[in-house]
Amino acid sequence: MVSVKLFYAASLLSLAFAAAQNDNAGGKNVANAGGKQGQNAGANAGKGQGQNAGAAAASADAAKGTAAAAANNGAKAAANNNNNNAGAAAKSSSTAAAAASSSAAAATNNKGGNNNANNANNGNNAAASATSGGNADSTTLQANAIQSGSFFDGQSGLGADATEAASTTSQNNFINFCSGQTLTNGLQITDGSCNGIVMGQIPAKAQMVSTVITFPQDGKTIQAGQDFNITVQVANLQAGAFTNADATYYAAPQQLKGGQIVGHTHVTVQDMGKSLNPTTPPDATQFAFFKGINDAGDGKGGLSAIVSGGLPAGNYRLCTLTSAANHQPVIMPVAQRGAQDDCTRFTVTGNGGATNVAANDGSKGEAAAAAAQSAVDIGPGALTASAAAAAATTAAANNNNNNNNNGGKANANANAGAKAAKGGKAQRLARFKRRTFVA
Ligand SMILES: *[C@@H]1O[C@H](CO)[C@@H](O)[C@H](O)[C@H]1NC(C)=O
Repeated sequence: MVSVKLFYAASLLSLAFAAAQNDNAGGKNVANAGGKQGQNAGANAGKGQGQNAGAAAASADAAKGTAAAAANNGAKAAANNNNNNAGAAAKSSSTAAAAASSSAAAATNNKGGNNNANNANNGNNAAASATSGGNADSTTLQANAIQSGSFFDGQSGLGADATEAASTTSQNNFINFCSGQTLTNGLQITDGSCNGIVMGQIPAKAQMVSTVITFPQDGKTIQAGQDFNITVQVANLQAGAFTNADATYYAAPQQLKGGQIVGHTHVTVQDMGKSLNPTTPPDATQFAFFKGINDAGDGKGGLSAIVSGGLPAGNYRLCTLTSAANHQPVIMPVAQRGAQDDCTRFTVTGNGGATNVAANDGSKGEAAAAAAQSAVDIGPGALTASAAAAAATTAAANNNNNNNNNGGKANANANAGAKAAKGGKAQRLARFKRRTFVA
């Protein structure tokens, strides 16, 4: 027993030394130091590996993805957690060049895993979470985040009614609901997908979004081919937050600031055809004008979009589409409420006016759709080779930060993330680490 203890103590010393070698001077350690690392050490024990395989499988290049997954699985023998390194590898997967560094990172990760046969836990990267809420990078569902309301199908509770559909149920917040399906992954996938991002923060009933269009008002007539401004007044929206719609579509939860939804609105104008009040729903792919209003307007809910060049003669419906920052429709606290959006119908008369550039078949509309499709073609993050390298650097930095928060328990993975950013150097670092550990 004594010798085992001694060996264990010696291991800890070696591990501590390894941790010191890997120390990161980035300055973020303090922020992480008192955080959630400790809580997750237990929760994540022995659970990290499956998540690694999944993260690696997100690789855009199927062949490389498989290789990365295999490399991560290799770490399983160490029976510990490498979550962050897998994340670093996955982040750099969208181009051929990035895929190569992804594989390299995974290979190093594997070594890290084998060295990590003690108490290390990388599951929770508080540094990376700083801007996106607690535990944004842990792959463990926290007990206090489990929604027991989803355990029930609603068929026997208060409000149950024979006409009601049974709700789908889950014991784990549906965290794997999209598994095996095409993931939305921040992209505007035109043939359908499954989005696994949580809905997020919901405002109080007293802070629900409400909109009124102030121009053009219902029944208004506008001259064809002339500029006009669509103006709206929105209540209870922290307007002006508009994320990259090509790469981060539905990619983060709805969030609040000062109790109000952080987001933006859009205006969309559709040609109703021969009548202002048709009985057939308009084709949602067809619009005469569309604009996401990405500024905060007058700061008091007054927002506008200039319709340069106006519209050709016709009967139109204008509607708002209020959304959270990542473009999802706003989520409200109660079912019975007024609409968050407004529509008006107006007529454009006279000669002149052509298809607006912001129509679905206008130059801007087509360019926007093409950009969204290009992002889909590139894959998650829609990163170019240089952007991928930058992302890998960030991931590596976060990884280092995290690895220094293991409470003195060593983590030989510390430099594996750096591999993704620095290429060849990290291989030497990995060897050095291993020697350090063995010594
Ligand atoms: C539209 O709004 C802009 C900016 O507020 C303003 O400069 C312009 O005169 C307006 N155009 C019309 C036609 O009202």
